[in-house]
Amino acid sequence: MHWCARSWVSNRAMWVRTAGERDLAEINALLVTTWHDTYDPIYGVEKVTEITDAWHSVAVLKPRLTQPNSEFVVVDTGERICAVAFASSADGRLIHLHQLYVLPDAQGKGAGGLLMDEIIDSFPEAQRVRLEVEETNAQAIAFYERKGFVEIGRTANCGEDDSGLPALILERTLG
Ligand SMILES: CC(C)(COP(=O)(O)OP(=O)(O)OC[C@H]1O[C@@H](n2cnc3c(N)ncnc32)[C@H](O)[C@@H]1OP(=O)(O)O)[C@@H](O)C(=O)NCCC(=O)NCCS
Repeated sequence: MHWCARSWVSNRAMWVRTAGERDLAEINALLVTTWHDTYDPIYGVEKVTEITDAWHSVAVLKPRLTQPNSEFVVVDTGERICAVAFASSADGRLIHLHQLYVLPDAQGKGAGGLLMDEIIDSFPEAQRVRLEVEETNAQAIAFYERKGFVEIGRTANCGEDDSGLPALILERTLG
C-alpha cells in the first residue's frame, strides 16, 4: 500500500484520499448502486446482485487496505464518498486498474478523471496502465478513449478468471 503524504488532493468540492477501514461500508454501497445503474441493462438485475455480493462485500474489500503495491483511493466531497478506484502493479511499470466507479449522480463532474490522475501519480515508474471494460459500456469506453486508452485485446473473463464476462482490454502508454 502506498500511503502518500499528499493524501488530500483538492479540486474545489472534491478531495482524493486513500480509503480507510471506516469507508468500507460506504464503498460497498457505492459499488452496489453504481453496478446496478451501469450493468443491469447488460447483465440483468439478478446477475449484478450475484456479482456485487461476491466481489464487493466489506469482507472482500478489506484486504485491499493492506495489499502491497496497490492503491485504494476515493473521492470525498466532505459529505459522502462519490467515487472509488483500486489499482495494483506487481513490477511498478504496468498498472492494472481493477476498478473505477463514480456514483451515477456524480458522473461527468471530474471525479473519475481525478482518480485516474491519482492512480497514475501513485506509481511514478509506471509506463503503461491496463484495464478491462465491458464492450457495450459506451460511456466508460468514451471516457477511457478521452484519457488516451486504446484497445489491445479481449478477455472472456473480466474481473476474475472464471467470471464468464467478456470485455475489451484497453491500455494507455504513459510518459
Ligand atoms: C466512466 C467513469 C469512471 C468516468 O468518470 P466521470 O467522473 O464520469 O468522468 P469525468 O467527469 O472525470 O470526465 C473526465 C473526462 O472524460 C470525458 N468524458 C467523461 N464521460 C464521457 C463520455 N461519456 N463521453 C465522452 N467523454 C467523456 C470528460 O469530458 C472529461 O474530459 P476532459 O478531461 O477533457 O474534461 C464514470 O462515469 C463511471 O463510473 N461510470 C459508470 C461505471 C463505469 O462504467 N465504470 C468503469 C468500469 S470499467
